[in-house]
Amino acid sequence: MSTIAALVVAAGRGRRFGGDIPKQYQDLAGRCVLRHSLARLAADPTIAAIRVVIHPDDIDLYRAAAKGLPVLEPVFGGDTRQDSVRLGLESLAELAPDLVLVHDGARPFADSGINARVVAALEDNDGAIPAIAVADTLKRGHQGMVETTVDRGGLWRAQTPQGFRYAPLLAAHKAVIGHELTDDAAVAEHAGLRVALVAGAEDNVKITTAEDLRRAHARFSGAGYAT
Ligand code: CTP
Ligand code: MG
Repeated sequence: MSTIAALVVAAGRGRRFGGDIPKQYQDLAGRCVLRHSLARLAADPTIAAIRVVIHPDDIDLYRAAAKGLPVLEPVFGGDTRQDSVRLGLESLAELAPDLVLVHDGARPFADSGINARVVAALEDNDGAIPAIAVADTLKRGHQGMVETTVDRGGLWRAQTPQGFRYAPLLAAHKAVIGHELTDDAAVAEHAGLRVALVAGAEDNVKITTAEDLRRAHARFSGAGYAT
């Protein structure tokens, strides 16, 4: 059996969300967004260890969010998500897990089914990411006008948790310091790693704006949704 660690990045400032406290610490039906994300990972028995990457200003918020959950001591992140992931990966060196699932703290609805699909695909690949095929027609626009229609064939929206073999992902991150890439799959791609696409979930949204949080709240008051 491979050892699986989860690395949760939660060191962002949430500029698009705004608000007085960072979005990952905002309330969502009685507990903060990050606690939802962590509780779901903690409920997955295949995950051996959970490391959270936080901002030094958020220590008190973090202690409250993680209270009673089986997580390792947090580490501090950096200025970009990529820096935060790299610092988190480096902090797992002693543990040296075989596999790592890198997850956004601001994505509170990932479930163990997604984790399992990602991990299963790591048997034959260096990396695997949950994604959803683009369904809408895509336009490239310029100054409020349609410039052209973009072929959506073969296009996917990437989610997290993104899974990788730990050692090659850490090496890939070290090799791209200074080049800004938007997700770990892009870092892996740069290193020539093979990354598979597995089925994500429409529910597995990232809280980016205040409107996203309002919609997430609505799911708890809607019929048939249990945590
Ligand atoms: N993140 C991080 N360290 C950073 C930037 C982002 O750990 N320097 C984390 C965020 O906390 C979040 C995840 O990466 O859980 C996805 O990033 P995003 O949604 O962009 O969050 P923010 O960067 O906080 O938001 P914004 O881009 O609007 O400022
Ligand atoms: Mg960001």
